[in-house]
Amino acid sequence: MTATIIDGKAFAASVREKVAAQVSRLKADHGITPGLAVVLVGEDPASEVYVRNKGKQTVEVGMNSYEHKLPAETSEGELLELIARLNADPAVHGILVQLPLPKHLNEDLVINSIDPAKDVDGFHISNVGLLATGQKSMVPCTPLGCLMMLRDHHGALSGLNAVVVGRSNIVGKPMAQLLLRDSCTVTVAHSRTKDIEEICRRADILVAAVGRPEMIKGDWVKPGATVIDVGINRIPAPEKGEGKHRLVGDVDFASAAEVAGAITPVPGGVGPMTIACLLANTLTACARANN
Ligand code: GUN
Repeated sequence: MTATIIDGKAFAASVREKVAAQVSRLKADHGITPGLAVVLVGEDPASEVYVRNKGKQTVEVGMNSYEHKLPAETSEGELLELIARLNADPAVHGILVQLPLPKHLNEDLVINSIDPAKDVDGFHISNVGLLATGQKSMVPCTPLGCLMMLRDHHGALSGLNAVVVGRSNIVGKPMAQLLLRDSCTVTVAHSRTKDIEEICRRADILVAAVGRPEMIKGDWVKPGATVIDVGINRIPAPEKGEGKHRLVGDVDFASAAEVAGAITPVPGGVGPMTIACLLANTLTACARANN
């Protein structure tokens, strides 16, 4: 293996340390404690794990965590009512509604009912528009974490060819906007892209966010490129025993690490950075609210 491993776990710990230091300063100097409200509707087991981790890490950096767990059959009206209460609550600086929502709830309507200033996910249409026009906004946590690792590894990104594989609202599109803002030449590739392997091979920066286990092979990677793997896929691992699983990314790590200059592992790459950036966004929202 030739690639440098980008250690997202260590990087996330350093981000959390900085956030914790600023939280303690806010408390000491202004008597303010940032608060993050997380709303979970239904009992999706993966979402429950994420929400538990978010709550735990929020408290660990000294912030207040407010968890709202609602039954799967919660009506849209009830959910909107809760969001209106959180919007009006001065102790709540950040609001996150865990996605996906149960099918009977209109995700766009729900997200757009969050006060944009408290939208720590950066999913509200106002924040999407602000980011796209280069104005100050809340930036979605996963792409923000990817950008921080890229800047840390490369320094300036200006002029680099960046290829983002995936066009989701949560990762692909905001990732492309952030790379463009840093003066990369950006291509967004997706399931209908022709000659996708060839396009990937031109990338100095390759961000994989498609949700397809180990899709991107080593021979899709330009020698020396930086590969950021956003995928978290559970695949069967019979070698570990009956019914066992293992986590893999969207990149075939073994073959890509032979060619890339640097690569994020799964787990321990992008994943830990997402929650660290959520905490950083909550601190930002709190600081702006009290400015
Ligand atoms: N579900 C998967 N990723 C995310 C995320 O970043 N934010 C929210 N709210 N839900 C998610």
